[in-house]
Amino acid sequence: NEQTFIAVKPDGVQRGLIGPIISRFENRGFKLVAIKMVVASKEHLEKHYSDLSDKPFFGGLVSYMASGAICAMVWEGRDVVKTGRAILGATKPSESSPGTIRGDYCIDVGRNVCHGSDAVESAQKEIALWFDKSEITSWKSAQQSWIYEKED
Ligand code: GTP
Ligand code: MG
Repeated sequence: NEQTFIAVKPDGVQRGLIGPIISRFENRGFKLVAIKMVVASKEHLEKHYSDLSDKPFFGGLVSYMASGAICAMVWEGRDVVKTGRAILGATKPSESSPGTIRGDYCIDVGRNVCHGSDAVESAQKEIALWFDKSEITSWKSAQQSWIYEKED
């Protein structure tokens, strides 16, 4: 089953948005299989955002992400990577549609409240970076057959 890494960033945690963000994924029908609060080191965040290391905002991004607790999660379900990105909305809040997390809860690209993996391969890498295998649970939702016509 497809999985994605979703993280409520330090601004989202401070602003009390963990609940609303979880609700959007739960309400859609996705399954939460791992969750923890972490204060990440700069080294860890430099790995997480390694593909952005040559960007002018990289230093600020790493400091922002290291500035407080993050709520790290793994969500599971059909097409959860792509749909998760749609639930988050565009990177720049000025371009995020109302109804998306970023389109409803933030203004500044440097304080955009939530992270979501951008592809299936990066999701697998990010999950392995943030979670030990033993932290990821396997459970069957009683709603499965009400959410999916056929099991994947
Ligand atoms: P993530 O889900 O956090 O990975 O965001 P994204 O995939 O929508 O965007 P990307 O991976 O390209 O950038 C990672 C993060 O860097 C963004 O979410 C922003 O917080 C930050 N960022 C991206 N572009 C800019 C920018 O132009 N200026 C600043 N200050 N921050 C940026
Ligand atoms: Mg990204």
